Amino acid sequence: MANIEDIKKELEKVKYPGFAKSIIEFGFVKDVKVEGSNCLVTLDITSTAADVETQLTKEITACLSAIEMTVTLNFNKPQAPKQSSNTVSGTNIAPQIKKIVMVSSGKGGVGKSTTTVNLAVAAAMQGKSVGILDADIYGPNIPRMMGLQGKEVEVIGDKAKPLNAYGVDVMSMGVLMEEGQAVIWRGSMIMKAIQQLLRDILWENLDILFIDMPPGTGDAQLTLAQSVPVAAGINVTTPQHVALDDSRRSLDMFDKLHIPVAGVVENMSGFICPSCNTESDIFGMGTCEALADQYNTQVLGSLPIEPAIREGGDAGKPIVYCQPESISAKRYMEAAAKVIAFVDAIDDDRTNEDIQPTTPPGVSACSTTAAAPKAEASSGCCSSTPKDAAPKQGGCGCN
Ligand SMILES: Nc1ncnc2c1ncn2[C@@H]1O[C@H](COP(=O)(O)OP(=O)(O)O)[C@@H](O)[C@H]1O
Ligand SMILES: [Mg+2]
Repeated sequence: MANIEDIKKELEKVKYPGFAKSIIEFGFVKDVKVEGSNCLVTLDITSTAADVETQLTKEITACLSAIEMTVTLNFNKPQAPKQSSNTVSGTNIAPQIKKIVMVSSGKGGVGKSTTTVNLAVAAAMQGKSVGILDADIYGPNIPRMMGLQGKEVEVIGDKAKPLNAYGVDVMSMGVLMEEGQAVIWRGSMIMKAIQQLLRDILWENLDILFIDMPPGTGDAQLTLAQSVPVAAGINVTTPQHVALDDSRRSLDMFDKLHIPVAGVVENMSGFICPSCNTESDIFGMGTCEALADQYNTQVLGSLPIEPAIREGGDAGKPIVYCQPESISAKRYMEAAAKVIAFVDAIDDDRTNEDIQPTTPPGVSACSTTAAAPKAEASSGCCSSTPKDAAPKQGGCGCN
C-alpha cells in the first residue's frame, strides 16, 4: 500500500500547466491524506481557469493509478484578484494593455533594443495595435532607433501621450530625460520609474506592449512582474557560449517570475558577407536551439549580422519596415508572427496572480545554472565557394 511519501514522489512528476516545474516544486500541494487505496490531495492553485483544474485532475489521476491509488482532489483557487499588503503586487496598473511582452537579455549589446523595435514594427505591420515601452533606463536607445529623437512629448492633464512611429506607440526614459543626462538609479527609483511609465503615460488600448528591459535580472524585471501581468518573455542572445550562460540567468528569471517564455531570438547569428554572399560563423550559429529545448521553448528567429540592421537602428529606419524584402526583415516578420500566436493563446483576462502567482515582493530574481549546449562546427566564408565569384571591394576580406 502506498504511503504519503510514495504519493508525493508521484506528484513530483506532475507539471503545473504551462510551466516546467512540478506542483510539488511550486509548493502547491498543501495536504495529502491516505485512506486505504484512496488518497485525499489538497492543492492551492493560482489560476481560476477551469482547464488548469481539468488538466491537473487528469494528470494526477493517471500518475497515482500507476501506484494503484485512486484520488479525491480538493482545489483551493483564488477568488477575485486582491490587493496584498505590498502596494503593487496583485494589481494590474495598466489594464488597457492586453498583452505585455518583456524583452530581456542576460547582458547589454546583444541586440535587445534592435529586436524590440523590429518585432514591434513587424507586429504592427501584421495588424496588431502595438506599443513599445523603453524601460532600459541605463541606455534608452529606442527613440533613436524609431527616428523619434528630439520629438516633443504632448502632456494632457498630468499624463504624457506616447509618441508614434511606424504605427507603433512609443514611450521612453530617453524622451523624458535630458539627452546625455546621467542618473544613478537606486532600486526604489527604478521601481517608481517603471510604474510611472505604465501608469502616467496615456497608453491607448493596445494588443501588445513590448517592453525593452534593462539588461540582466534585477529590480526592473521584478517590479514589472509585480505591477502588471506579463504575458510573455523573450530572451535575446548572441550565439557564443559566454552569452548563452547569461541568457540562462535571464530564462531562469522568467521561470522564477512565472512569465511564460515565448522564445529566444538568436541575434548576430553568422555574418552574410555583402561581397561574396557566403555566411561566416563569427559568434557561432545555431547554438540557441539547444538552449530553447532546455527551457521548453522555441527559437523565434535567427538574425544574421547585417550592416543594414545597424544602419537602420542608427538612422531610425527599422529594417523590417524600410527594407521588407531583406532576409532579416522576413525573419523578423516570422518571429513576430510566432510571438503573436503565443500571446494570443494566453487568456486576455489573466491577472498578475495567474501569471506571476507566487513571487513574494522583494525576492531577487537572480539565479545561476549552467549546462553547456553543444558547439556547432564553424564554416568560414573564405573557405567556402562564393556564390558570386566576381571580386568586389569591401565585404569580409575574402577577396
Ligand atoms: N543583427 C545585427 N546586425 C548588425 N548590427 C546589429 C544587429 N543587432 C544589433 N546590431 C547593432 O548592435 C548594436 C547593439 O544593439 P542594441 O540593440 O542596441 O543592443 P542592446 O539593446 O542589447 O544593448 C547596435 O548598434 C545595433 O544596431
Ligand atoms: Mg538597448
